[in-house]
Amino acid sequence: NPRKFFVGGNWKCNGTVDEVKKIVCMLNSGEVPCPNHIETIISPPFVFIPLVKSMLRTDFQIAAQNCWKGKGGAFTGEISAEMLANLGVPWVILGHSERRTLCGETDAVVAEKTAYALNLGLKVCLCVGETLQEREANQTGCVVSRQTAAVAAKIGCWANVVIAYEPIWAIGTGKVATPQQAQEVHYNLRKWLDCNVSPQVAMNTRIIYGGSVTAANCKEIGSNPDVDGFLVGGASLKEEFITILNARN
Ligand code: G3H
Repeated sequence: NPRKFFVGGNWKCNGTVDEVKKIVCMLNSGEVPCPNHIETIISPPFVFIPLVKSMLRTDFQIAAQNCWKGKGGAFTGEISAEMLANLGVPWVILGHSERRTLCGETDAVVAEKTAYALNLGLKVCLCVGETLQEREANQTGCVVSRQTAAVAAKIGCWANVVIAYEPIWAIGTGKVATPQQAQEVHYNLRKWLDCNVSPQVAMNTRIIYGGSVTAANCKEIGSNPDVDGFLVGGASLKEEFITILNARN
């Protein structure tokens, strides 16, 4: 398997300065696999990025949770990809379902953001996933391939992209996808890449699972052949995250 295990901790809109310091101390003292075996990203809210970056162990990388779709300028309240690059933030999470559903980000906007960030040298954790209604209507495959196709139309190189499959009904609900459900979507998404991008991109692109991942369920989900890691929300704020980083041990 050419794909290195990949785990992201998405803190979402959580934390105070004191809490952030405590979480970073917890992360720094955790025993985790060596960087040859795992790639780990930590994604604090923008305002805490400099603090986290100054304290965090160097085998973990920082990710922003979003960025603006183009060059910075008169866009009040936005953070540009240039700023992330300038701060030495290597990763950005784009197209998270909370941005798509709560902030109205369309497939086209997410694709534009992804292309722009990649062009600036950032690496992108691209989130895709279906609603409960779409799953019940058997549309999961077509939704995630539509979301991926929008990006595929705008980018030429997938080396700096990790795809996070996050079924919306599993996010923050405690209702995790079964290992079979995750494997099926990941397998089909990889097949989509194989047919529509290239066999090489399909083979090399990490597809990680997100949605109520915990210490208790990570091993079973992570043992599927097409599940290359996790994007963790709630559990990334807790000591449990260290257990998740060790899911492959
Ligand atoms: O980005 C993370 C996902 O939205 C999953 O969140 O682990 O709290 O369900 P969760």
